[in-house]
Amino acid sequence: MSAPDIPRPAPVDMAHHSHLTGLFAPQRDEVDVHDLDVIGEIPPDLHGAYLRNGPNPRFDPIGRYVYPLDGDGMVHRVEIADGRARYTNRFVRTPMVEAEERAGHAIWGGVTDLYTPGVDEVGPDLAGTSRDLPDINIVRHGGRLLAMAESAPPYRLDPADLSTLGRETCGDAMAVGSTAHPKRDPATGELVLFNYMLEAPYLTWAVLAADGTTSRPPTPVDGVDTPMMIHDMALTERYAVLVLCPLVFDIAAMFTGGALLDWRPDDGTRIALIPRDGGPVRWASCDAFWVWHFAGARDLPDGRVQVDYAQWAYPHGFARSDAPCPGGLVRAVVDPERGTVDRQTVFDRDVEFPRVDDRTLTRAGGPVATVGKLGRDSAGWDSLRFFDPDAGKEAHWDAGSLAVGEPQYIPGATADYWGMIGTDRTDLRSWFVILPAADPASGPLARVELPIRVPSGLHGAWLPV
Ligand SMILES: [Fe+2]
Repeated sequence: MSAPDIPRPAPVDMAHHSHLTGLFAPQRDEVDVHDLDVIGEIPPDLHGAYLRNGPNPRFDPIGRYVYPLDGDGMVHRVEIADGRARYTNRFVRTPMVEAEERAGHAIWGGVTDLYTPGVDEVGPDLAGTSRDLPDINIVRHGGRLLAMAESAPPYRLDPADLSTLGRETCGDAMAVGSTAHPKRDPATGELVLFNYMLEAPYLTWAVLAADGTTSRPPTPVDGVDTPMMIHDMALTERYAVLVLCPLVFDIAAMFTGGALLDWRPDDGTRIALIPRDGGPVRWASCDAFWVWHFAGARDLPDGRVQVDYAQWAYPHGFARSDAPCPGGLVRAVVDPERGTVDRQTVFDRDVEFPRVDDRTLTRAGGPVATVGKLGRDSAGWDSLRFFDPDAGKEAHWDAGSLAVGEPQYIPGATADYWGMIGTDRTDLRSWFVILPAADPASGPLARVELPIRVPSGLHGAWLPV
């Protein structure tokens, strides 16, 4: 998508950009601090590390800065052992970050800018390239620690010091790219992933065995004739579940001044049930909705498939009016025989970042945690919500002035916990918060004060020792 006649974009107005100030302001320091201060007590049975990724531009950006599409990756790690905590953070150093560090300023524009740097500025290898963006998620599989991008290969990190080892294709499984949200089967250890592309075949899926070798190379998903944005997936013991909401890439429109992505609700939403044994894809369809993130899923005894997810009426910013964008937690039952989707609302207020105990991911039997809003600050997530959809129960923890991040289920040796990084709106101090999974509404067991501010970000993982 190189366009050599396009001039270098102007700097972003940092001071007036909502995703480059306050809770979202980039963090440029990289530190490694032991023995963090704790309010409360870190459970002594916790041993491991919580890692979280998120957009964090290395230099003040030029062109357009669109959250969460733009930014460089920064990985934050809180290591827990023997009741004590250590914090480390590092940029994911792509060739673009390294080139900008040599120059001392931003060189690449945003992903929605058509500008790319020329050979005089960055040399022949990087001329005409777009910025790599491994800033969405962090995944460990088959001995590799991966900073995940969207629809592109991830970057491998050194687990010892979080330094960047380079672009990683995991054999050829991620050679064409990968979702930032591959799903690991807790029973088989396999990692199942998909990748969307702007050109045919538009959508592929692939599988890594538990040892990290490729057991299924990228395989086209039959029945897809349009490039569509798909952020996350669900997994059952039988199926990889891909939900194709009608957010369509329109390359021609972008090159003539229009938007790259077009929301086409009249097309409806289609759901692909991809048999993991390689059988033909089963399709179902329903009215249009949008989903960023899934919780758990499971195969029902009658052959239908149940999927829990955070639903939105449409993707923010893509409405045809200024109408509100209602969200909620939804349980869908997909019938591969009839091609139908039955959706039941579990909770009818905005939620996001749904997570489950990853050991139940393909069986959807455990609790679902999300970020939620209690309404004091309509712009931010101020609470964690905990659902038991099977029992129809809901509880929440009011985080007060803390802007909460994605909750992470953390199994301990004698009890289980939820953990997340949040930042206080009043003083911008960041904390790693540990809640008891047995009664998360009772509040934190421990608040670990982080030595620097962690910008609001995206997804994390708990890596047991
Ligand atoms: Fe995501």
